[in-house]
Amino acid sequence: MILLDGKKTSADIKEEIALEVRDLKNNDHKTPHLAAIIVGNDGASITYVNAKVKACERVGFESTLIRLSEDITEEELLNEIAILNIDNDIDGFIVQLPLPKHIDEQKVLMAVDPDKDVDGFHPTNVGKMALNLPTFISATPFGILELLDRYNVETSGKHVVVLGRSHIVGSPMSILLSQKRKVGNATVTMCHSRTKNLKEITLQADIILAAIGIPEFLKADMVKDNVTVIDVGITRLADPSKKSGFRLVGDVAFNEVAAKSDFITPVPGGVGPMTIAMLLKNTLLACKRRANS
Ligand code: GUN
Repeated sequence: MILLDGKKTSADIKEEIALEVRDLKNNDHKTPHLAAIIVGNDGASITYVNAKVKACERVGFESTLIRLSEDITEEELLNEIAILNIDNDIDGFIVQLPLPKHIDEQKVLMAVDPDKDVDGFHPTNVGKMALNLPTFISATPFGILELLDRYNVETSGKHVVVLGRSHIVGSPMSILLSQKRKVGNATVTMCHSRTKNLKEITLQADIILAAIGIPEFLKADMVKDNVTVIDVGITRLADPSKKSGFRLVGDVAFNEVAAKSDFITPVPGGVGPMTIAMLLKNTLLACKRRANS
C-alpha cells in the first residue's frame, strides 16, 4: 500500500511555485496577486481563508483579504466583486463559500470575471472544463488529478467509480477522468444517493473516489484487492480525547480499506492540503495569462 501524501506533494508544489515567482520577480514580471472575499464570521471559513492568504505570502505572492460583515447586502457584495474585476493589480480572486442565506450564491459566482475566477466556479470556466479547453480547474479536482499524476497512478482504461455528484467534486471529477487527457481516459461510473446495488458497482472499481460526506462510508467489503482510493470526505467528529475536541474523518474506513489498497489518500493529509496549492497554481497561471494578453 502506498499513501498518496497530499501534505508532502502540496509542499513540493508550493516550493516549485515559489521558485517560479522568484524567477518572475528577477525578470521584472508582475508579482501574482490573489484576493479573497469572506463574508461573516464562520470559524472554519475564516481559518481556511487565512491559510490561503498565508500560503500566498509563503510563495511570494501578494494577497488581499477583504472581510465583509454577515449582514452585507447582495448588491454591496456584487459591488466589491465589480471593483476586483477591474483592479489591474489583482490577478485572481475568490469569494469564500458558503455565503449567508440572504445572498444568491450563483449570482455572486457569475459576477466574477471568468479570467480572474481562480476557483473555477464560473459557468464559463465549468463549461470550458467540460469541453477540455484551457481554463481554471477548481482546486479540489485539480489537486486530485495532480496527486494521481505525481504518484503515476494509471487511469487510462481503468474503471473509476465516483461516489457523489456535487458541483465541486463528484461531477467535475467524473467529467475530467473520462476525458482524453494525461490523467484521464478512464471508464467512469458516477454513483449517488439514488444508485441501486452500490456495492456491486464499487466491487468492480479499479479506482474509487469518495466524495459524499458520510464518515467511513466505504468499507473493506465494498472494494476489490489492489484498488486505488481517493477520499475527499472530511467530517469533524466529536472526540473528547483531542485537544480540539474533534477529529477529522473521511468517507473511507481507512484502516480496513487501506489493507486492500495499492494507493490510498489519508484524511487528514491527503486531498485537503492539495487544494490550497492548486489555488496558488491557478493564481500563477492567471497572472501569466494576463501578462500575455
Ligand atoms: N469553501 C470551501 N471550499 C472552498 C473553495 O475551494 N473555494 C471557495 N471559494 N470557498 C470554499
